[in-house]
Amino acid sequence: MALLPIITAPDPRLKLVASRVDAVDDGVRRLMDDMLETMYEAPGVGLAAPQVGVLKRVIVADVARSGEAPQPMLMANPEIIEASQERVMFEEGCLSLPEHFADVKRHERIRIRYLDRENEIREQDVEGFLATCVQHEIDHLDGVLFVDHISGLKRGMIMRKLTKLKKQDVKADA
Ligand code: NI
Repeated sequence: MALLPIITAPDPRLKLVASRVDAVDDGVRRLMDDMLETMYEAPGVGLAAPQVGVLKRVIVADVARSGEAPQPMLMANPEIIEASQERVMFEEGCLSLPEHFADVKRHERIRIRYLDRENEIREQDVEGFLATCVQHEIDHLDGVLFVDHISGLKRGMIMRKLTKLKKQDVKADA
């Protein structure tokens, strides 16, 4: 397995729509495994392939708390097929927007369909923070970031700080 570099905002690659995979073959399995390792290392609770520069509909997540057994979820072509009317708010962060957090309201429960690591179609009901996490990661596959769900004022503030940080990094590299 290998650690993959994570793209941080602002970056046009985070705004693109990812393509479905034909099947979970060895290449996709390797991508899933590398993404999971990268996510644990970061550390984070979710990661989508566009965040590592791969425009495929692949996401990984694990919302187990420290001390709990790991509960990795590896999904290709994830889709939300049902969603509760009820919405719930959690504070979200993102490995592509380091150090920034904001409250986002999302469906409290969702039913998802996806291809698992063995290329089997699965349907699963998820709720609570895992439901939020999966919605956040599926958003990445459509070029949507969590800041796209918050006020323009707060989004502008976060993006300005990230842009400034990126310029400083470029200067430090030069
Ligand atoms: Ni994210």
